[in-house]
Amino acid sequence: MSQLVEAATYAPEWVRCVEKFYGVGFLSAGGKRTCQDLAQRLDLKAGDSVLDIGSGSGGMAFYLAENVGAVVTGVDCSSSLVTLAKQRSEMKGLDDKVTFMQRDMRNLDFPPQSFDAILFWGSIVHVNIDDCRSVLRRAYDCLKPGGKLIIQELIKFESVKTSTPEFKEYICRMGYYPSTYSDYAKHFSSSGLKLLEFEQRRDFYIQDSAETLDKLKSNWDEIVKDVSKDTLERTVSFWEEKLYWAQEGVLYFCFLLAQRPL
Ligand SMILES: C[S@@+](CC[C@H](N)C(=O)[O-])C[C@H]1O[C@@H](n2cnc3c(N)ncnc32)[C@H](O)[C@@H]1O
Repeated sequence: MSQLVEAATYAPEWVRCVEKFYGVGFLSAGGKRTCQDLAQRLDLKAGDSVLDIGSGSGGMAFYLAENVGAVVTGVDCSSSLVTLAKQRSEMKGLDDKVTFMQRDMRNLDFPPQSFDAILFWGSIVHVNIDDCRSVLRRAYDCLKPGGKLIIQELIKFESVKTSTPEFKEYICRMGYYPSTYSDYAKHFSSSGLKLLEFEQRRDFYIQDSAETLDKLKSNWDEIVKDVSKDTLERTVSFWEEKLYWAQEGVLYFCFLLAQRPL
């Protein structure tokens, strides 16, 4: 993710604004509800080690540590988000269970077979297709045999609309490099990961975006006391665009579950 995109997209005030409707610690569609669903899909037990790649403001890591007893490493390329997540971890007294590090997912150097599970939630869309392939290959190396990997992410559905200048301008401005389902299937098979489940979550994503816009607009006066009008307007247009492209059927969240074979 370029510094420009990071500064525009994950600026502290914007994070504060998003956490008002997704909940503290959550920056992606569904917030805590999605977190609970992903945690259940990982089927972890106390003491399992998890790598949360693109850990943001820390909600997933805290949830897994507090509710499952997992030992979680969160990595994120944004220094302000890592600092925020570390402060929250200290305040919660979770430093023995949760570690946050500033890392670019393209340069991970964890020892082989160190994690029972690896999670990408709203993060891998920020690396291009070649990097995505090598990130997943490295993720395979870091997983223990039998370990699971989840991607909950924006996926592109090829159509005439994805070749329009409007779509290209949109994904460029957002710093997105959306893969298609077949890109992921190829990456998984070339890295050795076995794809167990794929679900398209378009209805959920459309409903979430519409609800988010409704919350933003109906709580405008309250929110604007805490974040600038500019940030609030930017957040509204951010979700309007998300809703538009999801309704067009070309870009919305999907869920993929894969496993490193035993
Ligand atoms: C939409 S947020 C999701 C955060 C969190 N997973 C959640 O769902 O609340 C995407 C996150 O990916 C991080 N990110 C983007 N590119 C990255 C990279 N190359 N390496 C590590 N983290 C990255 C961003 O800084 C941001 O925190």
